[in-house]
Amino acid sequence: MPAISASAPGKVILFGEHAVVYGQPAIAVPVQQVAAKAVVSPAIQAASGSVHITAPKVNIDSDLAEMPEGDPLAAAVRATLRELAIEKPPAFKLRISSTIPLAAGLGSGAAVSVAIIRAVSTFLGETLPDERVSALALEVEKLHHGTPSGIDNAVITFTKPVFFTKGQPIQTFRVAKPFTLTIADTGVASPTRVAVGAVRAAWKKNKQHYEDIFAAIGVIVTKARAAIESGDNPALGPLMDQNHSYLQEIDVSSPELDRLVIVARQAGARGAKLSGGGRGGNMIALVDEASAETVSDALLTAGAKGIIRTIVQ
Ligand code: PMV
Repeated sequence: MPAISASAPGKVILFGEHAVVYGQPAIAVPVQQVAAKAVVSPAIQAASGSVHITAPKVNIDSDLAEMPEGDPLAAAVRATLRELAIEKPPAFKLRISSTIPLAAGLGSGAAVSVAIIRAVSTFLGETLPDERVSALALEVEKLHHGTPSGIDNAVITFTKPVFFTKGQPIQTFRVAKPFTLTIADTGVASPTRVAVGAVRAAWKKNKQHYEDIFAAIGVIVTKARAAIESGDNPALGPLMDQNHSYLQEIDVSSPELDRLVIVARQAGARGAKLSGGGRGGNMIALVDEASAETVSDALLTAGAKGIIRTIVQ
């Protein structure tokens, strides 16, 4: 059996984070400049059924049998074995690496799961269809944060811009004219689970108010899709700004995010917002050729810990 490797990209949510957990649509796009990679190779000396996992970035070097139920890497392997109805696989080693920052809103958890599911299933002789890969990655996402909408695993599995509504089939759509995003990292690690939990607690106390905001975000998402499909890219800027205001209102922004958002706008971005769970992690800015360099420089000067520029197409 030859070694098998699979990789999966990062992602950003363009519009609609948090509201998507409550049934509104959201738009996410892949970010191919970063990726998670899983390599599976046969462990010739080891006893059948033995699986060894190494993931240096998160200090894991352990046999699957010794890893707790709640470990997301182990869960991705176990979900794949269950899916293939294999109890005792031929012994193998799984090595995971990733250039996607952790807890930063770039989909690291889902990308690692997708890469593992693809590499392990292919190694065991069955290449799973994307729908199954995405569904299994969603099972694992539930360990990261209890109530995932499913948008991360969808955009990362399909590696295309997606218009996503929880519980509905994924819709891909046409990007009439490519556009450029600058993604800047606050350097503040912020697990999605915490931000999602805080929004849920606040929503429980004041459902009507929160649902009104989610519905307003849903309107922005629908307008954004129409703008992208018709090539009206400049219209996306003000929509990003409006979406950011609503995210501030539901208290998922942070001083660092707000600062980078303001700096990007002042440096010539057409619009900017936080992206993903918020309270840290990354923000995104819509830039054009003329402003791209200036915006990146301004963000770095303002303290951004990393910049990625990606073209959405
Ligand atoms: O922090 P991220 O990039 O994993 O994004 C989470 C997006 C939320 O809408 C906040 C949660 C979800 O499950 O969709």
